[in-house]
Amino acid sequence: MPGSLNGNTRLYGIIGNPVQHTFSPAMHNGAFSALNLNAIYVAFPVLPELLESAVKGLKALNIAGINVTVPYKTAIIPFLDDITPLAQSIGAVNTVIHHNGCLTGTNTDGPGFVRSLQKISFDPAQKTIGILGAGGSARAILATLAKNGAKHLLLNNRTHARAEALVAEFQPLFPHIPLEAVSLEALYPQELDLLINTTSAGMKEPIAPVDLKRFSTIRNVVDIIYNPPETKFLEQARQLGIPAMNGLGMLLFQGCEAFEFWTGQKAPEEVMKTELLKQISTK
Ligand code: ATR
Repeated sequence: MPGSLNGNTRLYGIIGNPVQHTFSPAMHNGAFSALNLNAIYVAFPVLPELLESAVKGLKALNIAGINVTVPYKTAIIPFLDDITPLAQSIGAVNTVIHHNGCLTGTNTDGPGFVRSLQKISFDPAQKTIGILGAGGSARAILATLAKNGAKHLLLNNRTHARAEALVAEFQPLFPHIPLEAVSLEALYPQELDLLINTTSAGMKEPIAPVDLKRFSTIRNVVDIIYNPPETKFLEQARQLGIPAMNGLGMLLFQGCEAFEFWTGQKAPEEVMKTELLKQISTK
C-alpha cells in the first residue's frame, strides 16, 4: 500500500464488472510505493447502465487514470475524448489517462504481450506466427504483432467464421502482411516461429485447444492463460521440448505499459511481478 494519503494524492483505478478478483490494485500500489509516488489505485465495480456516468465521474473527481476490463473495453470508447491509433484498430481500450480535462484511451494488452516476448528473446519482426482464437485477446495480439512487423499471421479458431471475419477486418489495416484464417489441417504443416493460445481452453478444465504433436515445426509456444500456470497446452509443449511461456508476462507488462503511460516513469517491473505472484499464490 502507498504510505500516507493526503490532499494531493493522485487517484487511479480499474473499472469493470465484476472487478473484485483483479490483481491490478496490488501491482500498481506496489509500484507507486516503490517509486514513492503520492498515488493510490482502487477497484471500481461499475454496473452497465452506469458506465457513462462513471466515465463522466472520472473528470468530475479528477481521477488521473484507469484501467478498463471486461465487459467495458469496447463499450467505453464512445465516452472518451480521444483514442490512440492502436486502440482504434484493436477496437478496445484497457487504459485511460485523464490529462487537462481530456480522457485518452489506449490499449496496452497487445504491447504488453509483445514486451513479454522479450523474456524468451523473441522479436516478432519477420516471423511466421500462428494464433489460436478470435476473441478480444486475439484482436489485440494480432494487431500488435502486425504493427511490429510480423511476416505472416495465421489465425485458427474453433468457429472458423470468426477467424475469417477478423482477417477481413484487419487485412486492409495491414496490407503488407499476409493474414490468413486457416483450418487446423492447414496450420499443422506450417513452419511456425511461434504459436499463441488466446483461447480460454485450459483455463477451467485440463484441455488443450490443439494437439501440438500434430504440428510439423513450432519453435516457441505462448499461452496467455496464467492461472493455472501450466495449462495442458504448455505441459505438452514442455514434454515436446518446445520453449514455452504462460500469460503472466502479458499481465505484468500490460500493467507496466499502463503505469508508464500514466506516470511517464519506467515501471518497477520486479516489484510489480512480486506483487502479482503474491496475489496468484493466495488464489
Ligand atoms: P477473450 O476476450 O479473452 O479473447 P472471448 O472473446 O470470449 O475471450 O474469446 C474466447 C476465445 O476462446 C474464442 O476464440 C473461442 O472460440 P469460439 O469463437 O469458437 O467461441 C475460444 N474458445 C473457448 N473455449 C474453447 C475451447 N474449448 N476450444 C477451443 N477454443 C475455445
